[in-house]
Amino acid sequence: MKPKIALVTGASRGIGAATAIKLAQQGCDIAVNYLSRADSARAVVRQIEALGRKAIAIQADVSNYTQVQQMIETTVRELGGLHILVNNAGYSSHGGIEQLSLEEWTRMLAVTLNGAFYCAKLAVPHMRQAGWGRIVNLGSLRALTGSAHGPHYAAAKAGLIGLTKSLALELAPYNITVNAVAPGYTDTEMNKKSLAEKGEQIRASIPLKRIARPDEIASVIAFLCSDEASYITGETIAATGGLYMR
Ligand SMILES: NC(=O)c1ccc[n+]([C@@H]2O[C@H](COP(=O)([O-])OP(=O)(O)OC[C@H]3O[C@@H](n4cnc5c(N)ncnc54)[C@H](OP(=O)(O)O)[C@@H]3O)[C@@H](O)[C@H]2O)c1
Repeated sequence: MKPKIALVTGASRGIGAATAIKLAQQGCDIAVNYLSRADSARAVVRQIEALGRKAIAIQADVSNYTQVQQMIETTVRELGGLHILVNNAGYSSHGGIEQLSLEEWTRMLAVTLNGAFYCAKLAVPHMRQAGWGRIVNLGSLRALTGSAHGPHYAAAKAGLIGLTKSLALELAPYNITVNAVAPGYTDTEMNKKSLAEKGEQIRASIPLKRIARPDEIASVIAFLCSDEASYITGETIAATGGLYMR
C-alpha cells in the first residue's frame, strides 16, 4: 500500500513535532513546516527518516497565502500527494481587552484562523483527488472556556471549531473527515513562562494533577488521522487531564 502523505504545520517543536513523529510511526511520509527554526525542523526530519519514512522541512508563515501555496506545491511535488493536514502552527500572547493592540488581535487571527483556512483550502483538492482525507485543527481548552487574559487567542481557537464543523459537513461526501483537538496545559515552549511562574498551582487545578506531554496530545491527533477514526467527523476532542470539567 502507498504511504499516506501528511503536512503538519508548526512541526519543528512541541505538539507539532510529536505529531509528525507519531504519524511517521503510523507509516506516513511527512512535510514538516516551520516558521524560523530550521535546525529544529531538520532534526525532526532526521528522526522521521530514521523510522524509514520520507520527510522534508518546509519554511512558510501560515498567515501568508503565497507561502502556503508554495508549501502545498512543494509537499505534493516532493512527496507525491497530500492526504492529511494537521493545522497545528500557533503561538500564544497575553493581554486583556484594554491592553491588546489592534496589531496583536489581527496577527493572532491571521496565524490561527487564516492559516488553517489557507492550508485547508489548498490541501482539499489533493484529498478529493485521492478520495480520502483527514484534517485536524489544533483548538484549545480556551476555545471552550474563554480566557480572561487572551480574548484574541480564545476567539481565534473558537473560530477554528466553527471552521472544523463547517468543513466536516462540506467535505463528508468526499471521504474527508475534519476534527479538532483541544489540549489543556501541555509541556512545550509555549507554556514555559507560565509553568515556571505558577506550575504548582496549575498542576493542582488539573484533575489528573499533571501537565500533558506533547506525545499524549499527538496520540489523539494521530488517531483522528488514521483509518481507525473513519466515522468521526466535526468533533472537538478535549485532552485536558479533566480540566475542562472544572
Ligand atoms: N502547549 C499548550 O499547552 C497548548 C494548549 C492548547 C493548545 N495548544 C495549541 O497547540 C499548537 C502547538 O502548540 P505548542 O505548544 O506545541 O507550540 P510551540 O512549542 O510554541 O511550537 C509552535 C510551533 O508553531 C510554529 N509556528 C508559529 N507561528 C507560525 C507561523 N506563523 N507559521 C508557521 N509556523 C508557525 C513554530 O515554528 P518555529 O519553531 O519555526 O518558531 C513551532 O513549530 C498551537 O496551535 C497551540 O495554540 C497548545
